[in-house]
Amino acid sequence: MDLTNIPKHVGIIMDGNGRWAKKRGQPRSFGHYMGGRNLFTVAREAKNIGIETLTVYAFSTENWKRPKEEIDYLMQTPVDFYHKNKDKLYQIDYKISFIGRKDRIPKNLLEVILEIEKNTKDHLGFELVIALDYGGYDEIISSVNQSKLPIDQIQIEKHLMINKPMDLLIRTSGEMRLSNFLLWQASYAELYFTKIHWPSFNGKALKKAIKNYQKRNRRYGGLK
Ligand code: IPE
Ligand code: IPE
Ligand code: MG
Repeated sequence: MDLTNIPKHVGIIMDGNGRWAKKRGQPRSFGHYMGGRNLFTVAREAKNIGIETLTVYAFSTENWKRPKEEIDYLMQTPVDFYHKNKDKLYQIDYKISFIGRKDRIPKNLLEVILEIEKNTKDHLGFELVIALDYGGYDEIISSVNQSKLPIDQIQIEKHLMINKPMDLLIRTSGEMRLSNFLLWQASYAELYFTKIHWPSFNGKALKKAIKNYQKRNRRYGGLK
């Protein structure tokens, strides 16, 4: 790995929890549980590698279409996880923030989110951004509504939920689509798809993706 060419902003579409569980004869919820735990393992790896920002897709504005039981599980598990692992979470030495709508998620989850943001807000260096009830359309529409006329690129970017172009976008589990993730920020991201299901994605897989990224020639429409 070339340490002088580490992507600053990496996005991960954490897909495949359900398929990972199915392969093991387990309910989808078990996949979500293991996927959630894996997030902290991969974030640690990303920090050690020298990535500045890792933005992960945890729940999309479209995921409300799923069965109520699955949604309930997805909304309750982070709350239980937080209360069970509070001591360990307090030791987290990086910043964690959340992007996405805050007006539709359950109140107990919102409280946990605000608590985590408050407890980690002064940490410098690496930042983990969790996209929850996030959708690219929703973000851009809300940004336009907050923008002053005449609306231009600077205005829109100023009001985005995260104003940082993405360098590398990874999607696990084989699907090759964006599914409404960071549409604006990913405009010039290098795309990387792996068949590995999210709960099995680890530091080794992350390094492999970065090595692949380092072979790309980023031209931004110009010539290089
Ligand atoms: C990703 O795993 C997690 C969420 C979208 C919440 P999936 O639940 O989409 O798993 P698959 O794609 O059905 O395997
Ligand atoms: C995208 O995965 C959203 C998250 C990983 C949170 P989905 O599983 O919801 O995407 P589609 O439905 O396959 O496009
Ligand atoms: Mg999926």
